[in-house]
Amino acid sequence: MPAKTRLHVCITCRTSDSTVNGNQNDARDGKILLDALVKNQKSSADVEIVPVECLSNCKSGCSLALNAAGKWGYVYGHLNPDVHHEDILKLATAYAQSDDGIVPWRERPEGVRRNVIARIPPIRS
Ligand code: FES
Repeated sequence: MPAKTRLHVCITCRTSDSTVNGNQNDARDGKILLDALVKNQKSSADVEIVPVECLSNCKSGCSLALNAAGKWGYVYGHLNPDVHHEDILKLATAYAQSDDGIVPWRERPEGVRRNVIARIPPIRS
């Protein structure tokens, strides 16, 4: 059984994209992104969406981190809660289905393909 994939979404982020203006209230863009992901996630998805407060990627928000035991971890940034939630869910599913966490470039959804901030090696025992 593959390791559970966790999609950590920073709920305290503000978007780095000054063209995003759909947020007319005080709700954080990261919380809006989290809500969109939870709302659109398929019930059979093998990805757990986990809210977190700050991934130390504040200047490149909105931010998220993907990880699973034994797999490469990834931090993504410059995400737009208005347009990226579908691509993020597709990316998380592809990540969950991978053996090592590496989703080949051409298989990454185009909308978030260039949003990788960092990748972190897996812990090996
Ligand atoms: S507030 Fe989101 S990464 Fe710091």
